[in-house]
Amino acid sequence: MKNTTATFAQMKKNGEKISMLTAYDYSTAKLVDKAGINSILVGDSLGMVMLGYPDSTRVTMEDMLHHVKAVVRGTENALVVADMPFMSYQTSVYDAVKNAGRFIQEGGAGCVKLEGGVEVKEQIRAIVNAGIPVCAHIGLTPQSINVFGGFKVQGKTVETAKKIIEDAKAVQEAGAFAVVLEGIPAPLADIITNMLTIPTIGIGASKNCDGQVLVYQDMVGMYSDFTPKFVKRYENVGEVMTSAFKKYDEEVKAGVFPTEEYTYKIDENVLKEIEAQLK
Ligand code: KIV
Repeated sequence: MKNTTATFAQMKKNGEKISMLTAYDYSTAKLVDKAGINSILVGDSLGMVMLGYPDSTRVTMEDMLHHVKAVVRGTENALVVADMPFMSYQTSVYDAVKNAGRFIQEGGAGCVKLEGGVEVKEQIRAIVNAGIPVCAHIGLTPQSINVFGGFKVQGKTVETAKKIIEDAKAVQEAGAFAVVLEGIPAPLADIITNMLTIPTIGIGASKNCDGQVLVYQDMVGMYSDFTPKFVKRYENVGEVMTSAFKKYDEEVKAGVFPTEEYTYKIDENVLKEIEAQLK
């Protein structure tokens, strides 16, 4: 069944948990969709896990659109969330609406996500008024890594926790249909989840959030540059891939791949004719 923002609202109402995973390409999107995951986030985390940058601040609109289009082509039922990159919405309300529109019109996404609370509420309101659903993202917002001084858990003091609660209220009030809570203490995530009518999607937050999201390379063991505490490794696909690459390397170097099974035949008479003409 096709997932929409209305599905998210209904699931929160019914007390059903929402699953979200990242994907950045056609083949992975097909696998995630086939697994029945409710939503695929084309996250700007692709800066790290796909492009090898140290953080997400160098990711551009063009990078994002390229990957969003591929994911949309591979998705049948999951709600595709396009992540708005650094400087695509902070600069002005106009830029925010214009760039969000590109993800829907050119990319084919179902909605957009952007980071921040009180300070981006006008952007959220304007994007929603333009007919584009917005998923907010508060707490540890990776595009602000240079302000935080690293990937640090947020909301551990009375002041910072109160700020995150204000952010949660502001994004709901501005019209966001859901909010990602990243890198905050579990009890704070629970307070916010109970306080809001829109679903909360946790990552490094709490099992009581209305849904959960993870970066797929983290949870299948394909990315090891940096593994946050909140990542559960469900499989070690990275090891399986390295083992396959090693076997292939050995067989190529030993001259045993490809065997007849993996090659094409030609009619004997055609071959004789070719050989005769080459003489
Ligand atoms: O970019 C991303 O993948 C994200 C998730 C970590 C929530 O924003």
